[in-house]
Amino acid sequence: MTSAIRLRTEVPGPNSRALLARRAQAVPRGVPSVTPIAIVHADGALVTDADGNQLIDFSGGIGVVNTGHRHPSVVSAVRAQLDRFAHVCFPVATYEPYVELAERLNRITPGDHAKRTYFLNSGAEAVENAVKVARAFTGRQAIVCFEHGFHGRTNLALALTSKVMPYKKGFGPFAPEVYRIPFPYCYRCERADGRQGGPCCMASREMLERTFASTVDPESVAAIIMELELGEGGFVPAPKEYVDELAKFARDHGILFIADEIQTGFGRTGKLFACEHYGLVPDIITIAKSLAGGFPLAAVTGRADVLDAPQPGGLGGTFGGNPLACAAALAVLDIMDTEQLPSRAAHMGERIRARFCAWAGRHPCIGDVRGLGAMVGMELVQDRVAKVPDKPLTGRLQRAALERGVILLSAGTYGNIVRVLAPLTTSDEILEEGLDAVEQALDQISAEIKPA
Ligand SMILES: Cc1ncc(COP(=O)(O)O)c(C=O)c1O
Repeated sequence: MTSAIRLRTEVPGPNSRALLARRAQAVPRGVPSVTPIAIVHADGALVTDADGNQLIDFSGGIGVVNTGHRHPSVVSAVRAQLDRFAHVCFPVATYEPYVELAERLNRITPGDHAKRTYFLNSGAEAVENAVKVARAFTGRQAIVCFEHGFHGRTNLALALTSKVMPYKKGFGPFAPEVYRIPFPYCYRCERADGRQGGPCCMASREMLERTFASTVDPESVAAIIMELELGEGGFVPAPKEYVDELAKFARDHGILFIADEIQTGFGRTGKLFACEHYGLVPDIITIAKSLAGGFPLAAVTGRADVLDAPQPGGLGGTFGGNPLACAAALAVLDIMDTEQLPSRAAHMGERIRARFCAWAGRHPCIGDVRGLGAMVGMELVQDRVAKVPDKPLTGRLQRAALERGVILLSAGTYGNIVRVLAPLTTSDEILEEGLDAVEQALDQISAEIKPA
């Protein structure tokens, strides 16, 4: 069998280094550069860098290409749309791909109630809009979000985002009326003393009432926004019993539930939306990333009465629902179905988890392995008792994996979680080859750090 990884130079090679040097002179340092490589081509689960090295992409453009890079159906749908028109601005003139995509999202998102959908350009914009709509509908101002949550980089989205460094430092003041409560992060739960497996100790009405008593009056809260599995916060799935209690608490207080499915969505967790694991029917869902298979598109989908609350002209934007992106998204929805990518994600997730757990058996630096479907991560710690996050080790593992031809992402408030966001179209052979390379990288750095 030929291997997918083909390295012609060291990684990064000279051409990548040269472009990164130009980048450093042209682009502000605040725009992160997770890897030091420059890409010239991408197909499926593979990318080719400027030095002709072919690498396996476990980052999927940070969860954007669940259907793989340049899926042929996405490419031909976009080409066909480009031959018709590329932009008219939806508020100026209506076009069918936008309306059809809204209809389809209304049908496939959880709940059989009447829904509406409108489109924006980025996840942060979808989050901002979900909050606008929730405030307009409820007439309330407060928004409740979670510790370790990530919702984007615009001002309100940043207010809702938890991680200070590097996202928030120096960028205040942030939007007001944002209240943060603890996320049920069982591995780091102080109350449960790190015991896992039992019911979540935060999952009770009494605990929620106590939390809100010292945070914000529930009757002034327009919405709770939650990632059911933290994305940037470290691939932590919320326990079902907690989400059940929270959803009931929200309902009883007239608080809308916004599920931020920007990273968990589009098949990643083994279901089209993570809500489906929880039997949760949110009032509003925010969608972006893999919605359009690599094209910038975001959506707010929700209850018709809620989304119809803002006055005509109150919602919209110049580029939101760009025709090329809508055409791509319609193709993505077909692919999800025909290639059964949510089931494929469940299968991939089992394989990744099995490998991570096997590694944890011989590498004490792996403190936890977790996640829904193919949204699997492992948390690296200095030791399993104190659970001190090991960010430097995580960085070393990423670099060593890259040198072996695998793009690997980290996550987490403490930067110590290795996460996999490989395209869901990745074949078993390529997935295993990528995991073999990560395993070798882990073995190498573990040997280096072992005391003599
Ligand atoms: C859960 C979640 N919400 C919102 C966002 C922001 O999306 P964008 O970067 O497209 O603005 C992200 C991005 O990582 C995300 O993971």
